[in-house]
Amino acid sequence: MNHNHSTPVFELEHVSFSYNHQIALRDINLTVHAGERIAVLGANGSGKSTLLKILDGLYFPNQGRACAFGEPLTEEQLQDDERAFAFRRRVGLVFQDPDVQLFSPTVWEEVTFAPLHLQLPRAEVVERAEWALELLGIGKLRDRAPHRLSGGEKKKVALASVLSLRPDVWLLDEPTASLDPRSQSRLLDFIGELGRAGKTIITATHDLDIVEEIADRVVMFCEEHAITGEGAPKELLSDYERLVECNLAHEHRHKHADTEHVHHHLHAAPHEHEHPG
Ligand SMILES: Nc1ncnc2c1ncn2[C@@H]1O[C@H](COP(=O)(O)OP(=O)(O)OP(=O)(O)O)[C@@H](O)[C@H]1O
Ligand SMILES: [Mg+2]
Repeated sequence: MNHNHSTPVFELEHVSFSYNHQIALRDINLTVHAGERIAVLGANGSGKSTLLKILDGLYFPNQGRACAFGEPLTEEQLQDDERAFAFRRRVGLVFQDPDVQLFSPTVWEEVTFAPLHLQLPRAEVVERAEWALELLGIGKLRDRAPHRLSGGEKKKVALASVLSLRPDVWLLDEPTASLDPRSQSRLLDFIGELGRAGKTIITATHDLDIVEEIADRVVMFCEEHAITGEGAPKELLSDYERLVECNLAHEHRHKHADTEHVHHHLHAAPHEHEHPG
């Protein structure tokens, strides 16, 4: 794909961000082009969710510059209602913690909120909401209160509410976490379809097993909140030393009879061994 002549979807230059005094992002440089599928990897607390929130215009850099669609992504820009509306319909974030995202009294209202807000015709609102509920298999939850659902059910409702928005740019924060296998597999198929439809998809995940399926490029955070590596999934995932260094894989030391040796593990792999005796 030739990206050279298109305006990038996002451009971050030397972006740093702290929550009060807690540093979360350190000197981040990142350009995302339309149609790219990116996986953001990193240990707990490395800055993945914060990065997605910056890209979603929820927080703004303390230092450096963020642009979206060729325009500055700043608080001032988003105070303009028309600009904010245009931005919000193009970019959708599924939060890691659905409790932060869900606010409606019923699942149906949650899932129809975005298309109603876009002032789509009633029939299309219903069609989009039904489609989103169906894809995630949560049609029977439609009259339930989102805050009284199980963790995985909440995550599905949060996903469905962004599905019904159908943005061009998808920011997915641990989308498969707490989903059962069938829902995970449907979601992965759907992310595949989005990619083929040319959507831009940025996924923060701990699930190394899904990275090759959902991304063409990996951005890897170190525990110091900086980007330490970028590249093709195959390349980065086969670099054990770097995975261990970034706390994405760990060395597991234990004894087999008389010999001691070290196993490498991906976080995603099951941690079971045969222990003789
Ligand atoms: N609301 C907050 N107030 C203060 N510090 C915060 C807040 N949210 C995150 N942090 C801190 O910012 C840093 C980055 O957090 P972030 O949530 O971006 O990490 P993450 O990579 O998404 O981690 P995880 O894998 O656990 O989801 C961490 O040190 C974290 O403790
Ligand atoms: Mg996170």
